[in-house]
Amino acid sequence: MALLAVAATLGLAAPGCATSGRAATSTTTTTATTVTDPGPRTSTTEPDAPAEPDAVDPSLTDVPDEVFAGLGDPRIDVADYQVRLHAEPGRDEVAGTARLRLAATTADPLPSFTLDLRGPRATQVLVDGRRAKVSTEADELEITPSAPLEPGESTSVVITYAGEPEPASFPRLEVPVGWQPDDRGGWFTMNEPFGASSWVPVNDHPSDKATWTITLDTPASVTGVANGRLRSRQAVAGRRRWVWETDQPMASYLAFVAIGDYDLVERGGAEGTEVVFAFPPDLSPDERGAFDQLDPILSFFSDTFGPYPDDDAGAAVVDTSLGLAMETQTRPLFGSDAFRGGDAWALAHEVAHQWYGNAVSPARWQDLWLNESFATYADWLWRESQGEGSVRELSDGRGVPSAGGLAVLDPEAAATFDGAVYEGGARALHALRLEAGDDDFFELLRRWFADNRGRSVTTEDFLALARKVTDADVDAWADEWLRNPDPPELPR
Ligand code: ARG
Ligand code: ZN
Repeated sequence: MALLAVAATLGLAAPGCATSGRAATSTTTTTATTVTDPGPRTSTTEPDAPAEPDAVDPSLTDVPDEVFAGLGDPRIDVADYQVRLHAEPGRDEVAGTARLRLAATTADPLPSFTLDLRGPRATQVLVDGRRAKVSTEADELEITPSAPLEPGESTSVVITYAGEPEPASFPRLEVPVGWQPDDRGGWFTMNEPFGASSWVPVNDHPSDKATWTITLDTPASVTGVANGRLRSRQAVAGRRRWVWETDQPMASYLAFVAIGDYDLVERGGAEGTEVVFAFPPDLSPDERGAFDQLDPILSFFSDTFGPYPDDDAGAAVVDTSLGLAMETQTRPLFGSDAFRGGDAWALAHEVAHQWYGNAVSPARWQDLWLNESFATYADWLWRESQGEGSVRELSDGRGVPSAGGLAVLDPEAAATFDGAVYEGGARALHALRLEAGDDDFFELLRRWFADNRGRSVTTEDFLALARKVTDADVDAWADEWLRNPDPPELPR
């Protein structure tokens, strides 16, 4: 579902240079863009935010985004993906069928639209059962149905595709993004921010969230893992079909797939969840035990932020050193390097993202601090509750190294996942708490989640809510802490 309206200009400097390989084809980004149909919402309270948005500009073929350009298509709103993916360990090729339910967001009938796909080629596209014309570029399909899409009408698009996934790389972080091998012949995905299109045709921008069903068709001895609930694991003609369903809206960068050798550990969890862990078979009992922390973390954040936004939870550990962890929806992703001192490193951080980032998602990549600052702050709250020091003390501590000199809201900071959007923004939140007082600050965090879960939101939306819920001078705070490359020290 496409959400949200993005008109807020934050008065930011233009990005010095966005890092993404895709950023070269920059679209004009300061124009106000809006999308119709905010889609189904799971919250009961309506946000005060955007009034009836206008339909999108029909000439925009990519989502306007100051940080990562060239992604998605704002003229469509995907509600649901049903993906069937055929994959084998040791073979760098996928074959799939993606069934999308989508609607045009334009005011007038839409003659063609694009989906992101990098590597595999589409062999056939059906729109409402009829053959559509497809032209393929390096990383995009342009689909021209036999008749234009009527605005707002649910349309079925079925893409049959096959080929070698082409992961992107994220140069400054030196991490591959998209479909990639583990160290034992299996495959997994780490999609943030633009990797999903290496294995599925997708409207690859977090402004368009959708429900997903992912069916992994693997050799019989192989396990397929994805987000959400395991609906079935059928044996079919010497192979196995693993059907995983995500029924809460999900941004495409949060979709997760792994095939290989895994133990699936299934059990009931805290907050009424069904938990599934996917562990490499030789993961030690101590390392598995590190994930027992999931339950107290789920309960702590549910008490602090509002009820956990899903019925499914767990984690996946892939057999390779990742150098990062990732908040893939319901089933955060860790590498074999995730274990430090008996802990699964970043577990609380990735679980906190299930509220901030996953349920409440950024409408533009420049709003990344809404993910990372909040998850970092949540992790400090968790650690404080565990006697590891006060939030103030933890705010001085280790973390993702910052290049320094970037404001929290600088698009360059978002483009590089700089420490400014992690610790910098978490310090900013602490400063807001000191000014607003604990009652109003935690009320703000809870309302931010309750009012916006299932949707994509902007920094402006957060500032508007903060003005409403707290007595803090929110504009002065944002200037001093979010837009300032040299923010003050927190008081002792
Ligand atoms: N979102 C991940 C986290 O919680 C970080 C991923 C950073 N790397 C990337 N290429 N997106 O910290
Ligand atoms: Zn994070």
